[in-house]
Amino acid sequence: MRIRPMRPEDVEAARPLAAAGDGWAERAGHLLTTDPGGCWVADDAGAVVGVAIALRRDLLWVLSSFAVRPDHQDGGIGAALLDAAVGYGAGCLRGLLTSGPDPQALRLYRRAGFTLHPTMRLSGVVDRSALPTVDGVRGGTAADLDLVDSVDRRVRGATHRSDHAFVMRHSALLVCDLLTGSGYAFATERGVQRLAATNRAVAQRLLWAALARTAPGSSADVRNLTSDQEWAIDVGLAAGLRLDQDGYLALRQLRPPAPYVPSSGFG
Ligand SMILES: CC(C)(COP(=O)(O)OP(=O)(O)OC[C@H]1O[C@@H](n2cnc3c(N)ncnc32)[C@H](O)[C@@H]1OP(=O)(O)O)[C@@H](O)C(=O)NCCC(=O)NCCS
Repeated sequence: MRIRPMRPEDVEAARPLAAAGDGWAERAGHLLTTDPGGCWVADDAGAVVGVAIALRRDLLWVLSSFAVRPDHQDGGIGAALLDAAVGYGAGCLRGLLTSGPDPQALRLYRRAGFTLHPTMRLSGVVDRSALPTVDGVRGGTAADLDLVDSVDRRVRGATHRSDHAFVMRHSALLVCDLLTGSGYAFATERGVQRLAATNRAVAQRLLWAALARTAPGSSADVRNLTSDQEWAIDVGLAAGLRLDQDGYLALRQLRPPAPYVPSSGFG
């Protein structure tokens, strides 16, 4: 068994390990282009039995995927993969990842120096009779990406610049730019992928606007919410969504950014 850099042909082989649903392979292919040095696999006699994918954006390191095939777990492969992925962050000041409640993963993350912040998830069908009229939020275009970068820098200290084109192909950009503050959200019919704003009032407008765009009658969710995001929890409850435990936001040299809904794949 050896840990080696991921190659394009490994993406399909690694997909069943990640169990991350639709879009995983496309995201992995994108990150293999932007961050080849952050993409690692565990290779057992030619079979891909583990994967770890990390990205660097400015001075922020993010873990995007991490999994080992069940019949190969508990033998140190995860620790070796995580070492390789963390090594890619050398020189980064801060680190961020979202995790499910997997005790093996949490053990490794804490041992790698991450602080574990429990998260909540809002889910369910949006009660459309609860939707308020929201002023000041509009659909965004590529011309708004400087605003997105500036909000990201302020809220989380790093942009998502090299992911914009990829993310805009898979979700709709919403923008709010007022005298009092600004922010953005990437929304899909299934909920919010990511949201950041310079104040809570702007964040709440964006979240309402994003919830209004979910498919009527279908379930939607907003994930990775630490207790710092009560502005989001209040909106979600008012919209008729239910609140459950989710997993963890694991951070290094960073307080939970707020108001912020991190994406699972890009931080
Ligand atoms: C997280 C994961 C990648 C770790 O891979 P792995 O190869 O099992 O990792 P390792 O063998 O290096 O380490 C696992 C650690 O968990 C411990 N462990 C094993 N089973 C455990 C359990 N049920 N509860 C708590 N700890 C456990 C092991 O003893 C080991 O710790 P140690 O090094 O101190 O002995 C793997 O478990 C996995 O794919 N999980 C499912 C996907 C997932 O949750 N990914 C995380 C991102 S959301």
